Amino acid sequence: MKAVVISTFGTPDGLEVVDLPVPVPAAGQVRIATEAIGVGGVDAVIRRGTLAAYGFREGHLLGSEVAGSVTAVGEGVDPSWTGRRVWAFTGLSGGYAEQAVAAVQDVLPLPDGLTGADAVALGGSGVVAHFALDRARFAPGEAVLVRGAAGSIGITAVQLAARGGAGAVVVTTSSAERGARLRDLGATHVLDRSGEGGGSDAPSGFDVVIDVVGGPQLPLWLDRLNPNGRFMAVGVVGGQPPADFGMRLMDAFRKSLSFATFSADTVPAPDRQAVRSSQFAEAVRGDLRTVVHEVLPLDQAVPAHRKMDAGEVFGRIVLTP
Ligand SMILES: NC(=O)c1ccc[n+]([C@@H]2O[C@H](COP(=O)([O-])OP(=O)(O)OC[C@H]3O[C@@H](n4cnc5c(N)ncnc54)[C@H](OP(=O)(O)O)[C@@H]3O)[C@@H](O)[C@H]2O)c1
Repeated sequence: MKAVVISTFGTPDGLEVVDLPVPVPAAGQVRIATEAIGVGGVDAVIRRGTLAAYGFREGHLLGSEVAGSVTAVGEGVDPSWTGRRVWAFTGLSGGYAEQAVAAVQDVLPLPDGLTGADAVALGGSGVVAHFALDRARFAPGEAVLVRGAAGSIGITAVQLAARGGAGAVVVTTSSAERGARLRDLGATHVLDRSGEGGGSDAPSGFDVVIDVVGGPQLPLWLDRLNPNGRFMAVGVVGGQPPADFGMRLMDAFRKSLSFATFSADTVPAPDRQAVRSSQFAEAVRGDLRTVVHEVLPLDQAVPAHRKMDAGEVFGRIVLTP
């Protein structure tokens, strides 16, 4: 089968289309003939080598979420899965391929009316957005900042905060055109990446920050938390923050601030599936919007990653075999 691996960490040119054996599902797994493969910010982070410390090596087969039809089941899996259209989390590897395997606990049937592309734009990121707001104890009336809102995590977080009754939904993004699109999804104020703009009625501080970016600027955003504010780091698309960023919190001791990381890995699989299932139903009803930037063939993974690196992608690129 055709698949895309990281031959060399770094630029998109380090990705290579290769032929690999079709995977055999192990006990508890299903195999899926892919029809849509999500290209996420996490794939770019792994490709650059940013996460090498977490055990990612060159030769890695990229891709964490797919949609398609189940073609085989492993030992202990109900054979009635075979032939069903599903969404699946493949576990940070294995997705950029014509056939992928996933643990059955991370596989969800696709409802009628949801395309594979929409499913991979929402399936992983919607859960991150939901539980990040939940763990941040977001409450109606609060001022929420979504930093790095133009990706699929941010796009869902903006919608959930808006419909959850936020007093303000502030976003950072790199262009006015993106800002307009985010306003259409529920943002009330738009800042540039450095935090400028937003207009005279923009909140001066935030009760909750959902941060997809991290990077060297992260400490400046801790300064913009309101007393009792909660900062939820969910991504590092801008790189890791400075090692001493925690001093910023200690310096502001009397504001009772909280900083937390959030990984969906810490949410029990049944809870993730329950939220994902209801988000898929909301997407079918039009109550939750998904944004597919572009659909490209699987062997165009290099241009797909170039577009991500160039900052051209609003929402998610989807590959199709
Ligand atoms: N917590 C979890 O469980 C979990 C699960 C999956 C993924 N992740 C993480 O989430 C991140 C990917 O999320 P995503 O796919 O929604 O993001 P994304 O699409 O890769 O990026 C979101 C937006 O961030 C902005 N951005 C990019 N680089 C930036 C920089 N250097 N400084 C400031 N803004 C920048 C860009 O928007 P503008 O150009 O408009 O500014 C971009 O569209 C990865 O770090 C991944 O590891 C976390």
